[in-house]
Amino acid sequence: MRQSLVVGNWKMNGSIQNNQSLIEGLKQNIASVQRAEVAVCPPFVYLQQVSELLKGTAIGWGGQNVSQQDPGAFTGEAAASMLVDFSCKYVIVGHSERRSLYGESDELVAEKFAKAQSANLIPILCVGELLEEREAGEMEKVVKRQLDAVINLQGVASLAKSVIAYEPVWAIGTGKTATPQQAQDVHAFIRGRIAEQDGGVAEKVQILYGGSVKGSNAAELFSKPDIDGGLIGGASLKADDFLAICQAGQ
Ligand code: 13P
Repeated sequence: MRQSLVVGNWKMNGSIQNNQSLIEGLKQNIASVQRAEVAVCPPFVYLQQVSELLKGTAIGWGGQNVSQQDPGAFTGEAAASMLVDFSCKYVIVGHSERRSLYGESDELVAEKFAKAQSANLIPILCVGELLEEREAGEMEKVVKRQLDAVINLQGVASLAKSVIAYEPVWAIGTGKTATPQQAQDVHAFIRGRIAEQDGGVAEKVQILYGGSVKGSNAAELFSKPDIDGGLIGGASLKADDFLAICQAGQ
């Protein structure tokens, strides 16, 4: 059985003071989380603080983005080796906000995925369709295209050392969660698509759901056979809310 995983994506939120109390709250009650592995992804500038506060605990951490380049003259970017310097385990690549607000293409996301893996980081590859795409019946086509960009560059075996997050864009920060069955259908589609090329990899890869996950809907989502945990935005910013989701990990 796959280990369940719940990751908090803080997005561009936090302050030294708030991070301190959020992490203290998580540490105090992390023992109440029995099954899920837990990690948080703060903004780059807080990785030092968060890594110091979490060192030696059961909670891991990671970045929200990574450059596809090696260190050099790339103003405003952070290299994979820098995330490794702060003992990151994970890095999110291809979040829909990066794709839509910062123009990241499928190919660029695949390059970031490759760079993360070459530094021994575990990429959390986000895929997901826009509302218009779902309404136009293009959901599978879009998710397949996003996934195939990575498979074409890195090979299907690379997915065994990654995490996939299905985040329907229409469900992010909107309060509109995909129903557990809608999410399960896409997760099964993703796993099936991988299985066409490598059954072992398909069986192994964790596929997280993201988009308005809360304490009240997490258990039902996570009970679905192909949903292995969650990538949590808003609800990861309060210790009690995030822990309630982590406790729902199966
Ligand atoms: P919300 O949980 O705020 O909907 O965000 C989901 C998300 O984008 C996580 O990466």
